Amino acid sequence: MSARVTAPAIASQKVRNGDDPLVMVTAYDAPTARIADEAGVDMILVGDSVAMVVLGYEDTLQVTVDDMAHHTAAVARAKPRPLIVGDLPWMSYHVSTEETIRNAATLVRAGAQAIKLEGGRKRLPMIETIVDAEIPVMGHLGLTPQSMHAMGGFKVQAKGQEAIDELLADAKSLEHAGCFSIVIEGIPREVADIVTAELNIPTIGIGAGPGCDGQVLVYHDLTGLEDRVFPKFVRKFGDVKNASLDAMTAYVDAVRDKSFPNDDESYHLKAEVAETLQGLYGGQ
Ligand code: KIV
Repeated sequence: MSARVTAPAIASQKVRNGDDPLVMVTAYDAPTARIADEAGVDMILVGDSVAMVVLGYEDTLQVTVDDMAHHTAAVARAKPRPLIVGDLPWMSYHVSTEETIRNAATLVRAGAQAIKLEGGRKRLPMIETIVDAEIPVMGHLGLTPQSMHAMGGFKVQAKGQEAIDELLADAKSLEHAGCFSIVIEGIPREVADIVTAELNIPTIGIGAGPGCDGQVLVYHDLTGLEDRVFPKFVRKFGDVKNASLDAMTAYVDAVRDKSFPNDDESYHLKAEVAETLQGLYGGQ
């Protein structure tokens, strides 16, 4: 088994230095963590997207630190090689630095090797406190889903000069505060290229074009486990929904036509016990 990926190893990977682009995918349980590991991804994000793609909520604001710890622990039990990044949910790092560090520690104790949180300079005291406690922090800028109400929905960000300047200043501050990488989501690719060029830590893009140092997608989206309408940046690399539907339909049919379970799929008594039973109960 090869060595597990570490945050310092990720921090030093830049495409401009000739490194391969980093690959991150979300996972929320042990089987998907094992699949991500076997596929060779670098980082597993136990994202708060679990709220929408697994738990059926309409946004990410509904999950708690306990929910995130539950899913982080499930991923960690698979002992995957990729770095496990636990997502701090909304309101777990907004009230005080004390609450923030306690919540970050809960995710680390559940098995996260790094944590991610959303937001720019506003969140610097929280980021500095977590870094100071020796927990690697991944930033998240641009379209930050936990700010959906403040942003007026899931909208592409940093389209005008002022917003671009703000984003760049946020990114540089996060790097200066010690973040080992930054997710940049839902911004024009030209802006992502500038942010990536200006930073020494890697940028991980989602809806930010091909110029980032890495990419992240949600497991359920990229595998096609759902056939809802996706944003334009999602590419469906598989059709797991229809593969699952075919399997489930075949199971339903096999039970109803009595072809499942067959004799090979059943347990049997030893011949002498069966004979005695036959004598006692006949053809029942
Ligand atoms: O929760 C999540 O899945 C995320 C990624 C989309 C970056 O934050």
